[in-house]
Amino acid sequence: MRRKIIAGNWKMNLTVAEGTALVTALRDRCAKVSNMDIVVAPTATAIYPIAQVLAGSMIAVAGQNCHWADKGAYTGEFSPVQLKDAGCKYVIIGHSERRQYFAETNEGVAKKARALFDHQLTPILCVGETLEERESNKTFDVIAEQVKVGLSALSADEVAAIVLAYEPVWAIGTGRTATPEQAEEVHAAIRKQVAEIYGQATADKVRIQYGGSVKASNAAQLLGQPDIDGALVGGASLTADAFMGIILYEESKK
Ligand code: PGA
Repeated sequence: MRRKIIAGNWKMNLTVAEGTALVTALRDRCAKVSNMDIVVAPTATAIYPIAQVLAGSMIAVAGQNCHWADKGAYTGEFSPVQLKDAGCKYVIIGHSERRQYFAETNEGVAKKARALFDHQLTPILCVGETLEERESNKTFDVIAEQVKVGLSALSADEVAAIVLAYEPVWAIGTGRTATPEQAEEVHAAIRKQVAEIYGQATADKVRIQYGGSVKASNAAQLLGQPDIDGALVGGASLTADAFMGIILYEESKK
């Protein structure tokens, strides 16, 4: 049984005060949650204070991006070493907004994944097709390439420990969710690909989140699919009630 993992990606939202209030509420309301991993990914400026509030709680902190180098002359960037120092356990890499607006490539994602494991941080590696790619029947080719190259610098044990996130770009922030069947089809294909490259034991362990307009009202159906091991939540992670709605659905199945 893979343990579910629910992560909130705050993107470029919330001040330190707003984020602190949110995680204080989440920390208290999640105190008895035990059957899943919960992660929040604040904006970089809020990571350290948020990690302070969450120290000793069951909620882990993630970065939303990183550079692959440990340090150096890369104005505006931050490294895995710095994210770990600030309190992160996970780092999101390859998010479609980074790929789309900041020219993040599969090769760059592979370097970041390598650097994160070198510093005992867990990548949450995002993949997903655009609407145009889906409509021209390229979904499986695009995702296969993102998975193959993105994981290429990792060992089978590292792939078993990574978190993948399938986020169809057309479902992000649009209110238009993939149907559970559409999502499961891609998740199963990703797991099959991992099995082919890294072996079945690795594929059985790797967790694959779904992301794209996940909210309390559709979480049950999505998370009920055999190959969907959690959710990467954007908009619905910005308030305690919306995020808890997703978490409590999972918890109630204990
Ligand atoms: P959304 O974002 O839930 O607002 O669609 C998901 C994501 O981009 O991680």
